[in-house]
Amino acid sequence: MHNDIDHVLLHESTIMSRLDAMARDITRDYQGEMPTIVCILQGGIILMADLLRRIQLPLLIETISVASYHGGTLSSGVVSFKQNALPDLKGKHVILLDDILDTGRTLEAIRDRFVNEAGAASVKLCVLLSKKKDRPCEVVAEYVGFEIGDEFVVGYGLDYQGQYRNLPYIGVLKPEAIQRLA
Ligand code: XMP
Repeated sequence: MHNDIDHVLLHESTIMSRLDAMARDITRDYQGEMPTIVCILQGGIILMADLLRRIQLPLLIETISVASYHGGTLSSGVVSFKQNALPDLKGKHVILLDDILDTGRTLEAIRDRFVNEAGAASVKLCVLLSKKKDRPCEVVAEYVGFEIGDEFVVGYGLDYQGQYRNLPYIGVLKPEAIQRLA
């Protein structure tokens, strides 16, 4: 698994320090509230586990399952919800958690449904990574761990063909690994 990594972009210790700061910001911003954290499966699960344990607030946890990459390294542009029912978010302050803000289509589609259909009182976006790029939609995450270049990354929840999610760091795959698993 580690042999397939060309180079490490963000080491585990760097990610952990950044999560400390992000959790402090969220704890400060939601004082007196009980936010509902909605984790996007599967990519957000590692972030959810590490970030939520650092937040010093009462909170609720929900998950939502969507697919937008369908296994490749380029966004399909289509966001498909894997379940019809949305979590019960009426009047709730929601923090939507995902591994990465890439084109922004996934977070935009989910946020719109949370506000327009589920009746959330507010929805803020929290991502570990945000790619520096022109996006087809206007999506800005309120909480961002790191800005990275526009390259395909794996680890810490992010996969290629379903693999590498359990790497404790963010890395870039060797081209031969991408070809082998394509
Ligand atoms: P966007 O913002 O394009 O992101 O709607 C959709 C989902 O695609 C995945 N994604 C990636 N997965 N390396 C990955 O392993 C990447 O560089 C990458 N960029 C996007 C991710 O699950 C995101 O939620």
